[in-house]
Amino acid sequence: MNNKFRLGVLGSGKGSNFVAIADAVAAGKIPADIVAVLSDVETVGILAGARERKLPAQFIPPGKFRTKLDDDAERAYIEALQLAKVDLVVLAGFMRILKGEFLRTFAQRVVNIHPSLLPSFPGLEAWKQALDYGVKVTGVTVHLVDQGIDTGPILAQQTVPVLEGDTPATLHARIQEAERELYPATIAMLARKAGEKAG
Ligand code: GRF
Repeated sequence: MNNKFRLGVLGSGKGSNFVAIADAVAAGKIPADIVAVLSDVETVGILAGARERKLPAQFIPPGKFRTKLDDDAERAYIEALQLAKVDLVVLAGFMRILKGEFLRTFAQRVVNIHPSLLPSFPGLEAWKQALDYGVKVTGVTVHLVDQGIDTGPILAQQTVPVLEGDTPATLHARIQEAERELYPATIAMLARKAGEKAG
């Protein structure tokens, strides 16, 4: 029986983090399988990327709210992830706040990547916040998801310099490059730890 660590990836966007994770899995750098890729947006890069790689991809409508899932949608996400027997829920640009039932069901098993060195610059467009503030160093953070927004225990961080003449776009691109390294490396670490625990 295949007892590899099982990843469920949730995203709403182009899916560059998903691609980095999927490529690392395919290259044997993450001892895990991607068993579900879910999105709240029907025509989006992350689902196309998953289908190209022959991974199970599913659009699940988010319901009536703009920034969170409604109760029925939350249940549908939970069921899809449970059906796929997911060990770790990986948020890769999922633009809905997850709370309550979802986080209770997957307690300590939901990770997110944020484009700043938390606790600085939580929330949207963190690279722009960093540029506007004038910091000389920013970065990326992988953290466990809790009830707050971009709070939760930090698992890993990587710094990114802010360079003279940076625009939001150039800084964002540099940050995304760091994300594509740090996220797969952190997930690999979690998968290895789980493997050691399981013996
Ligand atoms: C990433 O930049 C990440 O920091 C944020 O959402 C973005 C998703 O981008 N949480 P992508 O869809 O992985 O390209």
